[in-house]
Amino acid sequence: MQEKYYKEAISNKIFNYITQATEELELESYVIGGFVRDYILQRGSVKDIDIVTVGSGIELAQKVASLLPNTPKVQVFKTYGTAMLRYHDIEVEFVGARRESYTENSRNPEVSEGSLQDDQNRRDFTINALALSLNKASYGKLLDPFNGVADLENKIIKTPLDPGITYSDDPLRMMRAIRFATQLNFSIEQNSLDAITENVERIAIITKERIVDELHKIIASPKPSLGFLLLEKTGLLKKILPELIALKGVEEVEGQSHKDNFYHTLEVVDNIAKHTDDVWLRWAALLHDIGKAPTKKFDKKVGWTFHSHEFVGSKMVFKLFKRLKMPLNNKMKFVQKMVLLSSRPIVLASGVTDSAVRRLIFDTGDDIDSLMTLCEADITTKNPKKFKRYHKNFELVRQKIKEVEERDRVRNFQPPITGEEIMETFNLKPCREIGQIKEAIKEAILEGIIPNEYEASYNFMLEKATSLGLKANIKS
Ligand code: CTP
Repeated sequence: MQEKYYKEAISNKIFNYITQATEELELESYVIGGFVRDYILQRGSVKDIDIVTVGSGIELAQKVASLLPNTPKVQVFKTYGTAMLRYHDIEVEFVGARRESYTENSRNPEVSEGSLQDDQNRRDFTINALALSLNKASYGKLLDPFNGVADLENKIIKTPLDPGITYSDDPLRMMRAIRFATQLNFSIEQNSLDAITENVERIAIITKERIVDELHKIIASPKPSLGFLLLEKTGLLKKILPELIALKGVEEVEGQSHKDNFYHTLEVVDNIAKHTDDVWLRWAALLHDIGKAPTKKFDKKVGWTFHSHEFVGSKMVFKLFKRLKMPLNNKMKFVQKMVLLSSRPIVLASGVTDSAVRRLIFDTGDDIDSLMTLCEADITTKNPKKFKRYHKNFELVRQKIKEVEERDRVRNFQPPITGEEIMETFNLKPCREIGQIKEAIKEAILEGIIPNEYEASYNFMLEKATSLGLKANIKS
């Protein structure tokens, strides 16, 4: 076979230092994995470099650090036999070439020293097993025992060894296969797909954090549906996000059917991916209809209904995040809020009144643009006339939002009259009436009865207080 060299791939100075250290220690070293794959795919800038050496990775890292001008700190991970150092903004990780053997209940293998070939055998995919020599005599030579370059060209995800063993050994690789297929728009070889399907139960030994990491990457891809369809097809989705599986299927009663909310959801996620890189807004798109499964009912008069599915869905978001050990922080609250409000602009689109727009801005605050992006992505009708009409209506809503906000400034609403002022004006101690007056002022502003201004709010307060039987201190 013809030998290929990729000297240009390793033109960064760091590789010269690694070669020098390798020579001095009389080792063999290679750059391997994602770096080589991404170079051949011409995929963006490098942040991580994985170095494998036939010998001690820790020793090599320390030698490299000693040769570098600023002698960077070496982080040693003794348990894993690895070491890491930083060179400018690149993380360089060193590991000794190893052979691995796995036990039934853990994805952490027993490790023993091995050759480069042993190390390539233990890798997840042929496209991730590519290595370039950093040894003087063969500098830049490609070592591709499993035809990974051909798989890159043919856009195929394939394991170096028996896929049944590769996935069973480390079931995280099932998620990785689907993630790479989604990110790169590759297909997964049939044997691999079968092996994943056979091993889905083994996903149980993977920590939730790692699963979510891969989900994030799938969601952040240009066309996330590719990944979700694969997750569904292999049976993994049922294990990870059963809420989405529950949306699958179309029921028909008395000749009336509803849409398949699973495929609709995937369309919405693909749509939104064209308009935002915000992974949490993409999560919101993925989960916006999950409340539809538990709320689905058939009503003889009106057909299929999903009453309060937005509210039920937003509660489910909390449980889902908790189950997947995702952070229960502002990001989760944002997703909940988007799910809860996901139908509001649609209602508006058929009749835009100022007060409805004001209420929407009041309830959504700074997330109004995100909500509009979600609602526009939610338009998946295949009827071109309707498609055009819905989008046009949303344009009107956006326009109205702009006008109303410029005039009334109810985004991040601050009451023009404070509780203290009400207490002072009417000689009150803290009591229920203060809340009632504040609420009445807010409602009057949102309804458009008074403008969002101090003077008007003050007069309205006086009126409301009189109706509650309160008397104001005489103001000079
Ligand atoms: N690897 C593996 N099995 C895993 C994880 C990683 O065999 N479960 C190997 C692959 O050879 C991979 C390398 O370790 O290329 C580095 O892993 P990682 O940094 O996680 O992934 P990258 O391939 O670099 O890709 P990305 O940065 O997109 O995750």
